[in-house]
Amino acid sequence: MPAEDRIRRWVRASVRAASVYPVGKAPGLIKLDAMENPYPWPEPMREAWLRRLRNVALNRYPDAEAAGLKGQLRAVFSLPGSAGILLGNGSDEIIQIIACALSGPGASLLAPEPSFAMYESIAKGTDLNYVGVPLQAPDFSLDVDAMLAAVERVQPAVVFIAWPNNPTGNLFDRNAVECIARSTPGIVVVDEAYHAFAGATLMPLLEQYDNVLVMRTLSKLGLAGLRLGFLAGPPAWLLEFEKLRLPYNVGVLVQESAGFFLEHIDVLQEQTRRLCADRERLYQALLKQPGVTVWPSAGNFLLFRTDTMPASEVHERLKRAGLLVRCVADMHPLLAGCLRVTVGTAGENDAFLTALSEVLARH
Ligand SMILES: Cc1ncc(COP(=O)(O)O)c(C=O)c1O
Repeated sequence: MPAEDRIRRWVRASVRAASVYPVGKAPGLIKLDAMENPYPWPEPMREAWLRRLRNVALNRYPDAEAAGLKGQLRAVFSLPGSAGILLGNGSDEIIQIIACALSGPGASLLAPEPSFAMYESIAKGTDLNYVGVPLQAPDFSLDVDAMLAAVERVQPAVVFIAWPNNPTGNLFDRNAVECIARSTPGIVVVDEAYHAFAGATLMPLLEQYDNVLVMRTLSKLGLAGLRLGFLAGPPAWLLEFEKLRLPYNVGVLVQESAGFFLEHIDVLQEQTRRLCADRERLYQALLKQPGVTVWPSAGNFLLFRTDTMPASEVHERLKRAGLLVRCVADMHPLLAGCLRVTVGTAGENDAFLTALSEVLARH
């Protein structure tokens, strides 16, 4: 039987209809497309990390519980004592674990949109009904009435709220998030991937609501390549999710490296402070750029719209000038004409601003 026939017979229709997540290629380009931290570690810190890795036993399975690492995460990120913690191979994997646990006939995942694309693609891949509720123009604020109406209508198993939101960069109103938590029959996952750049957190909600969980990642802090995310929340919920977590999803090198990283969190916090200051400079410069509309951001990225040239063309021309940003224009009607740029080093940001103004001037 030809492979296509077997695939049609056995692979779920929702998987066949999906596409592989697109990852921009950036050989030789200044990479400002994926919200990575652009700064390397200071050399002595790098050396100390490599010395630590010498002692890691690669022939042994990792500590499946990762109790040491969890303890460090608890302390560094000030988790409430009552909260449990689950580790994932990046927070992407945690979204997948949650979706797998909750998927079933009639179960829905609800999220405001535009938001992080993985909520929808993981929902679809796990046969969870995805329901997106449009944000409000022009500031991308949460449409609380529409969210509450959708909660009432679809009775979602889970609501995902990115706080700050990607790609719009804003922090939704706290009271609105609490209102949704009180109204929904399922759980609310507050995705704080960009929390370090926001100077704000909804972590205290863990002590007030038994259906709220908070997800974080080390990716945006400087360890995107390592792959470590965590979910904090009520132990009873985490126990259910633990059953679907593959026992060795966080390898020995990741556990050791993340532990080392957390011991040096001050270095990363300093880099974060620098990125926040540079985000403001980049924002101010984009505000002054003719033909550009930019939105304020609490993340390490900025959403902007080019009003005189199609976003896809700006994206292509910037690429030819050596810069990779993310064109998000096709993601959602509210993002028509929009691109997203990650805050890089001061030099990278200057290179981006120069290239953008040249691209727009030549038009
Ligand atoms: C809101 C949000 N959540 C989660 C993630 C995924 O993070 P991780 O690298 O931990 O999988 C991203 C990545 O861009 C994101 O924007």
